[in-house]
Amino acid sequence: MVSIGATKDFSAEMLAVGLFRGETPERLGDDAAEVVSSGDFTGRVCETALLYGQEELGTPRLLLIGLGERARFDLERLRRVSATAARRARALKLREAGISLPVPQDAAVREAAQAAAEGARLGLYRFDRHKSGAELREIDTFWLVADEEGLEQALEGAEVGEKAARGAVLARDLANGPPNVATPEYLAREAREIAERHGMEVRVLDRSGIEEEGLTGLATVGRSATNEPRFIVLEHTKGGDAAPVVLVGKAVTFDSGGISIKPSSGMEDMKFDMSGGAAVLGAVEALGALDLALNVVALVPATENLPGGDAYKPGDVLTMHSGKTVEIITTDAEGRLILADALSYARHYEPAAVVDCATLTGACHVALGDHASGLMGNDEDLIAEVQTAGEASGERAWPLPLFDEYTDQIKGDVADIKNSGGRYGGALTAGAFLKEFADYPWAHLDIAGTAYGKKGNAYTSKGATGAPARLLVEFLLRRAR
Ligand code: BES
Ligand code: MN
Ligand code: ZN
Repeated sequence: MVSIGATKDFSAEMLAVGLFRGETPERLGDDAAEVVSSGDFTGRVCETALLYGQEELGTPRLLLIGLGERARFDLERLRRVSATAARRARALKLREAGISLPVPQDAAVREAAQAAAEGARLGLYRFDRHKSGAELREIDTFWLVADEEGLEQALEGAEVGEKAARGAVLARDLANGPPNVATPEYLAREAREIAERHGMEVRVLDRSGIEEEGLTGLATVGRSATNEPRFIVLEHTKGGDAAPVVLVGKAVTFDSGGISIKPSSGMEDMKFDMSGGAAVLGAVEALGALDLALNVVALVPATENLPGGDAYKPGDVLTMHSGKTVEIITTDAEGRLILADALSYARHYEPAAVVDCATLTGACHVALGDHASGLMGNDEDLIAEVQTAGEASGERAWPLPLFDEYTDQIKGDVADIKNSGGRYGGALTAGAFLKEFADYPWAHLDIAGTAYGKKGNAYTSKGATGAPARLLVEFLLRRAR
């Protein structure tokens, strides 16, 4: 168990102190000064030097940690610095450690504490529940050390950061979960637990409920799966009579491609095709913990996409929940089918805004790499709002166009529209497809490149990143202000 707190009186086994690039440390003693003057330590972001015998600073171990250029130090760098310090403390098998909280130039102490708490918590994450053997040692407490006058703010920020990060951790755990464990019903159970913890309403439609509701896309994609599909509805109603925000997350717990089967190499990564749903559940967990005064509805269509005697086929025509007809070109463009039904279901709520997130297209990963989610929609203000939340949370999203020509590209031959617009502009034709089902302010995040990775950074590891759970939390926090 790790807990994160704020303090002004610090004594523990290690204290991390940040140093900007090219600046000499003051009040850190001769040893620290020498590490810098020798040129061995330059202050590059997350560079470290560990010094012993620093009892006059109230700690046996001083970890100098680079903050980079002073003018470029921001909340995202702080997340990474904090994570690096926490990871070092754990590697040293310490029980308690802390970081002297550095506050970026344009940020408030509260924001800095939030970011540092997120960094520490997420940096210490590991997915080891399926590893047998000795339990690995965790640090007990990671302290953010703040000045007396900023302490109150630091406490508040650390608490928000801790809750946001716990949401992201939940998203990571779900998305990392192997596909024989993290099934649609498993997600439904998780949703019930979230509802129980935070006093929310939860409804789960099973296969027959999905069919009765007319969620044809979800029923069709899930038809051949023995692990049955679920349609998960979670409602947080703390916003009086305000129109709700609806969050929609694609949860394909395994995407084989179906009859249009994917190449087998790397197919194991398609367990991550539920990352959108996982992020929505994670964000709602944080929303409940933060007890925000908002109305929020989460919709998570969950299914496997498998071939089989009962599987849907290229050439099939579906009549969707909205009444629109869709010609199936490829059974591997399944995400947009289950999302389309969720988006048209969202109309019941007369929502103020709908944000969906989905590992929707390899094309989006190609376009933006690992470093930003694709952001599309039908409302410039909402798109800007989501982009801002992405920037603030460090889960960046970048706008992509939805020109009418992309809609032309998915005109159907025998039905209204088809589920693939071909190779070129794949992220945008997928967005254009969803747009056909959204008649309220709507934004779409394609997270194919950001939801999981092979490398990780200072506060993510190989596997699920939890994105965009913290983006969604930030979006909701700003709406609640
Ligand atoms: N889940 C995939 C998208 C994906 C691919 C996410 C690779 C992460 C990594 C989605 O269901 C899919 O298969 N999309 C197709 C769409 C195409 C068939 C129109 C794709 O991107 O190739
Ligand atoms: Mn697919
Ligand atoms: Zn998919």
